[in-house]
Amino acid sequence: MTRSHLPLLCLLLSFLNFATSQDDAMIMQALRSSLTLTSDVNWSNPDPCKWETVQCDGSNRVTRIQLKQKWIQGTLPPDLGKLSELIVLDLFSNKISGPIPDLSGLTHLQTLNLQDNFFDSTPKNLFSGMNSLQEVYLDNNPFPLGRFRRHSETLPSLASLKLSLNNLHGGLPLSLAGSSLQKLYLNWQKLNGSISLLQNMTSLVEFDIRGNFFSGPIPDLSGLQNLSLFNVKDKQLTGLVPPSLTVLQNLTVVNLTNNYFQGPMPLFKNSVAVDAIASASSFCQEAPAMNWKGNDSCVSWLGITCYKSDITGISLWSQGLTGSISQSFANLTSLELIDLSSNSLTGSIPTELTTLPKLRLLDVSNNNINGDVPKFSGSVIVVTTGNANIGTKNK
Ligand SMILES: *[C@@H]1O[C@H](CO)[C@@H](O)[C@H](O)[C@H]1NC(C)=O
Ligand SMILES: *[C@@H]1O[C@H](CO)[C@@H](O)[C@H](O)[C@H]1NC(C)=O
Ligand SMILES: *[C@@H]1O[C@H](CO)[C@@H](O)[C@H](O)[C@H]1NC(C)=O
Ligand SMILES: *[C@@H]1O[C@H](CO)[C@@H](O)[C@H](O)[C@H]1NC(C)=O
Ligand SMILES: *[C@@H]1O[C@H](CO)[C@@H](O)[C@H](O)[C@H]1NC(C)=O
Ligand SMILES: *[C@@H]1O[C@H](CO)[C@@H](O)[C@H](O)[C@H]1NC(C)=O
Ligand SMILES: *[C@@H]1O[C@H](CO)[C@@H](O)[C@H](O)[C@H]1NC(C)=O
Ligand SMILES: *[C@@H]1O[C@H](CO)[C@@H](O)[C@H](O)[C@H]1NC(C)=O
Repeated sequence: MTRSHLPLLCLLLSFLNFATSQDDAMIMQALRSSLTLTSDVNWSNPDPCKWETVQCDGSNRVTRIQLKQKWIQGTLPPDLGKLSELIVLDLFSNKISGPIPDLSGLTHLQTLNLQDNFFDSTPKNLFSGMNSLQEVYLDNNPFPLGRFRRHSETLPSLASLKLSLNNLHGGLPLSLAGSSLQKLYLNWQKLNGSISLLQNMTSLVEFDIRGNFFSGPIPDLSGLQNLSLFNVKDKQLTGLVPPSLTVLQNLTVVNLTNNYFQGPMPLFKNSVAVDAIASASSFCQEAPAMNWKGNDSCVSWLGITCYKSDITGISLWSQGLTGSISQSFANLTSLELIDLSSNSLTGSIPTELTTLPKLRLLDVSNNNINGDVPKFSGSVIVVTTGNANIGTKNK
């Protein structure tokens, strides 16, 4: 390019810029006319970039529209999807009705919140082209019965999806399995089938599907290390609650109420709020007895999880236990979890425990354990913090 082209190029570019910001302004005027704004929303300035709750970038392109809880009625203009620099569209909790227009031109949109409105339809290509999306909230709109599959074309970049109360039916779309979704809220839909693909949604932090018609077992959740909330209330789930759920370290809330689970009542760490009291839940609280060196009366079926007749978990967190850790734990070859944290146990960790083939977690933190920590396989998480003399030689 020669020097002489530069001024022309600059002129063209500034013209282009001007044209697109003018387009944005026209779309914003159309938005203002199609909504019935309430008195606390002052959109009177001729320049939309000066409107309250609207933000623009340095080129006067609209980047944010946030009108939350304003009792605004009306509809959205069909050209809204041409605000191509928009990053946030948040119309949470208003009374806006009609269709959600084609938003596929919103390639920079990260947050779409249309929750709690009266939208009655979604475009066929919802989410297509919206490759920057991180959060979508469409809960509580009177959409007609629709298949979920249609809503899930390009989910991979999405972090949160809340589609509660949307009348969706059918099964979970397979595309969810490979997604990096962190929050999935699908409560009160009419979804059915299995939740087995949950096993592959390893980024999940919050999972809430209460009030659907899912059935079958809970899959192995050992890959979901960040899972914090697990709500499968009111469903027809069956089988055993897998130990892979009970041992998850980040778990804080679990709702299992109203399902058809079998086996012993699962035991979670004390830090987990569990809600599993239910008429339809069929946990049987049987578990085989076990031996404990020293005949410690604190040991009962209470701290034990089982799979069929095999003991898979021993969770005796903060039970005032004294004595040493018995090497006969090694005979319980199905053990996956041993949590003896926050007791007054002494002695060392028996080397025999390293032979437990399924062990995933040994937590002896906050005791008075001493001696060397035996070498466990790399897949075992061993927590020994809070033992002042750990690592020192046995007396
Ligand atoms: C609305 O904002 C404009 C400035 O953009 C201001 O001049 C006008 O007084 C405001 N109206 C009300 C009712 O606050
Ligand atoms: C889940 O992952 C496993 C192994 O990584 C794979 O075999 C399976 O097909 C995946 N399932 C889905 C539904 O993607
Ligand atoms: C899910 O429900 C539909 C009816 O909405 C039915 O045709 C289908 O067989 C159900 N699928 C499963 C796995 O129950
Ligand atoms: C778990 O969360 C951390 C951040 O807290 C993140 O770095 C990590 O990738 C997440 N793990 C998975 C499996 O998504
Ligand atoms: C899960 O717990 C680990 C260890 O406590 C922590 O580093 C991580 O950030 C947690 N993940 C999330 C998503 O909070
Ligand atoms: C889930 O369980 C927690 C802990 O018991 C409880 O506080 C919460 O109300 C439950 N939520 C639902 C939706 O049942
Ligand atoms: C274990 O405790 C039971 C009941 O407290 C008692 O009957 C039994 O003799 C004790 N066994 C040993 C070996 O201490
Ligand atoms: C553990 O197993 C070993 C060998 O299989 C056996 O000798 C020992 O008696 C068992 N211990 C207990 C407490 O069952």
